[in-house]
Amino acid sequence: MLQLKSVQKQFKGNEVLKGVDMQILPGQLIHIKGRNGSGKSTLLKIIAKLWAPDSGEVIFNPNVVVGALIENPNFIESESLAYNLKFLYSLTKRYDDNAINKIRTLCELFHLKYDQKIAMKKYSLGMRQKAGIIQAVMEDQNLILLDEPTRGLDEDSMDAFRQLLQKLIQNKKSVVICAHDGVEEIPFTHIYELKNGILYE
Ligand SMILES: Nc1ncnc2c1ncn2[C@@H]1O[C@H](COP(=O)(O)OP(=O)(O)OP(=O)(O)O)[C@@H](O)[C@H]1O
Ligand SMILES: [Mg+2]
Repeated sequence: MLQLKSVQKQFKGNEVLKGVDMQILPGQLIHIKGRNGSGKSTLLKIIAKLWAPDSGEVIFNPNVVVGALIENPNFIESESLAYNLKFLYSLTKRYDDNAINKIRTLCELFHLKYDQKIAMKKYSLGMRQKAGIIQAVMEDQNLILLDEPTRGLDEDSMDAFRQLLQKLIQNKKSVVICAHDGVEEIPFTHIYELKNGILYE
């Protein structure tokens, strides 16, 4: 799906990534761990093309479509969940009945009410996080980047999240999860650690 070659990134002399090499293949469920400030979110932002590396290469297979939840998900705060998901979905795809059914199913899985009219600004941390996970997978994206996705999730939602991951991996999508805790029960296929700017397997 993707290959990183000697990816480097620094912020005003702070060398955060010192040459990261990594390959992501279809069907991999990857955990990147690392302490606060080790560069996990930076690496995901580079993979998501939000930031360019200072040097090195990020090589995508042509069929890759990235879905991402990185740090705090942004929504149109005065609008409902359904409005936001429709808006995001419609940027790339037609919001037909098929799409609505798929998104409803995802909302049900996470115990979110698709038809509820309350504004996103009134959502709890866990509810926002789940909405963020839904938007990262709802367009059938095949490379899914999740930064601390389990933050705020209760036990039922963790179960739902694990079910979703299993299905994604069965369908040969690739998932990269950055987190320092809260992911012990996820059956990762690969575990990496970012330390002093280097990614260790
Ligand atoms: N926009 C930025 N400008 C300057 N420095 C930054 C910026 N973003 C990140 N950094 C620095 O890069 C380093 C890595 O930050 P990053 O957010 O990638 O870490 P992280 O592993 O995701 O940490 P956490 O576990 O707290 O989420 C930190 O030292 C941080 O201060
Ligand atoms: Mg981070």
